[in-house]
Formats: sequence, C-alpha cells, structure tokens
Amino acid sequence: MAFLQGLDSHIVIVGCGISGIGAAQKLLNQGFHNVRILEATGRCGGRIRTGRIGSKTVEIGANWIHGPCQDNPVFRLACRYDLLDAASTSEENQAVDVGGHPPYVSNWFSSSGRRLDPELTEPAAALFQSLLLECQDFHASGGEPAPSVGAYVKARAPGLAAAEWRDDGGAARDLGLATMSALLKLECSISGTPSMDDVGLGAFGAYKTLPGLDCTFPAGYEGLIGCMMKELPEGIVSYNVPVKCVHWNGSVQRPGPCGRAFPVWVECENGDAVPADHVILTVPLGYLKKHQKTLLSPPLPLKKMHCIERMGFGTNNKIFLEFEQPFWDPDCEAIHFVWEDESALVDVVPDVERFWMKKLACFTVLKPAERYGHLLCGWISGHESEHMESLSEAEVEKSVTQVIRRFTGNPTISPKRIMRSQWYHDPYTCGSYSYLATGCSGFDIDTLAEPLPLKGSRTKPLQVLFAGEATHDSFFSTVHGALLSGWREGDRIISHYSPSSFSVSVSSKL
Ligand SMILES: Cc1cc2nc3c(=O)[nH]c(=O)nc-3n(C[C@H](O)[C@H](O)[C@H](O)COP(=O)(O)OP(=O)(O)OC[C@H]3O[C@@H](n4cnc5c(N)ncnc54)[C@H](O)[C@@H]3O)c2cc1C
Ligand SMILES: *[C@@H]1O[C@H](CO)[C@@H](O)[C@H](O)[C@H]1NC(C)=O
Repeated sequence: MAFLQGLDSHIVIVGCGISGIGAAQKLLNQGFHNVRILEATGRCGGRIRTGRIGSKTVEIGANWIHGPCQDNPVFRLACRYDLLDAASTSEENQAVDVGGHPPYVSNWFSSSGRRLDPELTEPAAALFQSLLLECQDFHASGGEPAPSVGAYVKARAPGLAAAEWRDDGGAARDLGLATMSALLKLECSISGTPSMDDVGLGAFGAYKTLPGLDCTFPAGYEGLIGCMMKELPEGIVSYNVPVKCVHWNGSVQRPGPCGRAFPVWVECENGDAVPADHVILTVPLGYLKKHQKTLLSPPLPLKKMHCIERMGFGTNNKIFLEFEQPFWDPDCEAIHFVWEDESALVDVVPDVERFWMKKLACFTVLKPAERYGHLLCGWISGHESEHMESLSEAEVEKSVTQVIRRFTGNPTISPKRIMRSQWYHDPYTCGSYSYLATGCSGFDIDTLAEPLPLKGSRTKPLQVLFAGEATHDSFFSTVHGALLSGWREGDRIISHYSPSSFSVSVSSKL
C-alpha cells in the first residue's frame, strides 16, 4: 500500500546529463510515473557532447569509456545498444588491466625546435609514472608526506633525475626534468585541475580504474544518450528551463495538484513553479560552487556548503587541429612539447595572458587515420585554459600555430581547421570535472551525496537528493561514475517506498 502511494510521488530531476537520465530510467522502470526532468539548455547529454570539425565527428566533452569491462555500466549499455566496434568489445580488450591504456607511442619536440631522443624521454616518462604510482599508494597506507601530488612529485623528481642522469651531466638531467614538466601539465588535464599542487596527495588514490583498454564510440558518445533517451517516455524533459531555486523543507506553502501540500517547490527562471516530493539535483559541482548560496532555500547546511567549497572542480579543454599533412610519425599516438626552460618542474604558467599556450603540452592523434585524416586533439587545463576560452578562435589559431612552428622547426606549418571547447564559460557547467583537492577526502564526496533533510530531521525524508559525477566516491570525473550516481539516487527513492526494503536488508544480514 505504501509502495503504491510512493509510485504516485512527484519527482523532479534537475539536469539531463547521463546521471539525470539514469535516475529517470531507474524510477520509471519501477513504476514511478510522475517523473520530470528540467534541463537548462536546449539539449540532453550535458558533458557528453559530440560535435564536428569539417566533416569529422569529434568529442567536445567525454571521449573514452574508461575501463570498458562488464563491471562498467556504460560499457554494458554501449554493448546492448551495439555502439562499439568489435575490437573494443573483445574479451582480450576487456581483460587488459593497465589503468586505462599502455604508455602512448609518443613523439617529443622541444622549444628549441628539435625532436628529443627517446633515450632521454623514455626514462623521464618512466620516472614520472613511478612517482604517480607512489602518490596513489598513500590512499591505502594513510599519512601524507606532502599536502599535494604536485608538492610530492616536485620534491622527489630532482633527486631521482640526478641519479638517473648522473653520468650525462647537468644538461641531460635538466632536459629530463623539463620532460617531466610536460607530463605534469598533461596530468593536470587528466585530473581536471589548474595545478597538481591542488590535488590532495592522500586522496589521489581514491579514484579507481577498471580493467579494459579505454575505448571510444566510433559514431560519437552522444549516440549513447540518444539510445537511452529513446527508452524514456516522450515529453519527460522540459528543455530551456533553468532551475533558479529549490524551495524545500515546506518553505513554500501552497496547494499543488489535487490540493495537496508538497514539501518542495522548484522555481524556474521562467517563473514556473513545479511541486515535488523529491528533487534529484544533478547540476555539475562547478555550477554548485557558483550558485550554492541561491540554488536552495533554506540554504544548504553548512557542512555541505563547506565541502562544496573544498572539493576541486577545474577546467580541461580540447583544441582540435586538422592538418593536410602530419608532422608526426605514422605510429605516433601522442605528441609532447617540452619547454627547455622548465627544468624546475612547473605546471602553472606565470604570465597567463602572454604565455597561456605553454600549458598546452600534449596532443593526442585521433585514430584511425582513415576516419580522421590528420587530426590532433590538444589538451589544456587550468587558468591558462580559461583564458584561452576568452580569446577568439583566430587568436587561438595564431598562437598555437606559432608554437607548433617553433617546436617542429618548420616555419610554414599551418592547421587547416581549428576548433576548441569552452567548458569554463558554459554557464551550466562552469568547468570540466571534479577532483579531490588538498584537504579533501572521500568523506567530502559522501557529505556532498547526502540527501536533505540531513539524518535526524523529523520533516519529510529525501526532499533533495544529489547525483552527478562529483558525488561518486571512486569513479568521480567519469561518465560511469555519473551514471552510477543517478542510479544510486533513483534506488534511494525506490527503496524508501519499497515495503520489502527493510525486511530484505535485515534478512540478508541474518
Ligand atoms: C572535456 C571533457 C572530457 C571528458 N572526458 C571524459 C572521458 O573521456 N571519459 C569519461 O568517462 N568522462 C569524461 N568526462 C567527464 C564526463 O563527461 C562527466 O563526468 C559526465 O558526463 C557528467 O555527467 P553528469 O550527469 O554528472 O553531469 P552533466 O553531464 O554536466 O549534466 C548536468 C546537466 O545539468 C544541467 N544544468 C545545470 N544547471 C542547471 C539548472 N540550474 N537547471 C537545470 N539544468 C541545469 C546542465 O545543462 C547539464 O545538462 C569529460 C568531461 C569533459 C568536460
Ligand atoms: C525545516 O523546518 C522545520 C520545521 O518547520 C524547522 O524546525 C527546521 O529548522 C527547518 N530546517 C531548515 C534547514 O530550515
């Protein structure tokens, strides 16, 4: 009986990214029929966004399924919808367990316009990798010899480099360290942080990888969203409806449908007010950081506010460059730019306006060439990336072309097309994805995910629930983390109303 009434409850999901879609999927499958999604923009998918450069399909947001194996729900869905190629779904591919991908086949260029010798760059890359592995171990062992990943790497690297290149003199050592600077910048993009000095050392290992060699969607990641949306009832999403304020805790007293009182009213920018028993908020952490003081009324409890402030959310952008002819080797998967003046291990550019392009240290080569031609994806994070967004595409093209000419020593190279993402200035994302900043731990993620009202309140339970990438304690910053978080909050509502949930959880302990 209680369950039947539960199915009538009004549920509003804020945000139509994969976490919001996942929550809706769960609830509808269980028979909840008053489910609505309010989406600020005119499209679904959020940070899953496929675009085009010329005639080629590229990912402006998420690119890979990280860890495509049976434990990854995004992989399972992609298989069910038949969206992957045979190589990605093979047993062999699922079994490779190397934390994503084996080291890229790389071409290294330096600021003095020469190719760097693999005899130098390979040991530097290996040293850097071993330092990152050391960083991951502090999560399990406890204790932090340094506050951040950056501080730890910067403290350890010079000694290791001196030992590695002790017979080759200072020049090789300095170049080895400059090589590690390029890798540190790439790591900033991967972590979505302005500097590795901002990433907590003890928390670094909280992020978990799944087995499986990272794979992509040949026809675009948005195909996954399209397939998921087809399974939802038509009209469930209201587009171009930004939510302005979630009035919870019975703070708006007004009769809703059938004259009933609702604990929550969702106020939209367009003036609409939508009544709800439960609201699942899936807005990005970057949006929460910017709007947390006004997005809820009454405001968020202090402990949630503080953890939203503490947690990290940075910018990682892509700059796509298309060329007539490659300036890299046929087998090359990644191109790295080493600034020879950076042997002091730097991952932040001092004069952002003049030198933002120094942060752009790595380009991945889109493969296969038959599909993409000669297309590179450059990665740039941090304040340098945010500044890049504010420039015109022509200005970006000019600066990047200058850098490529300098590093390749070829004064005539020009990209024939360029396109970049602008995630920081996207008003409903405000950056790219979350990371555990210094001073943070998994507890902050759990606090962020805690529904309102907090435990112990005698008002109606589960009024506001929190999903989205940043609320998953081991897969934050990923698509599968986002999807799992949406399912989790859907399930939280389902089990709240399910008459069997209590007896099931009790009996399973017996
Ligand atoms: C450049 C980039 C590369 C990435 N690469 C990868 C990758 O290779 N692999 C991977 O697994 N992950 C990757 N990610 C991360 C991945 O895209 C995200 O973790 C995931 O898509 C987040 O889903 P979500 O539902 O939590 O949030 P979102 O997709 O951001 O959805 C939130 C939705 O809420 C809406 N919204 C915001 N404010 C309001 C409001 N006030 N009212 C109504 N609606 C609102 C937004 O418009 C948006 O549609 C990448 C992200 C970026 C930016
Ligand atoms: C919610 O409402 C109750 C009772 O009306 C009140 O005691 C409580 O302080 C309110 N909580 C918040 C966070 O405003």
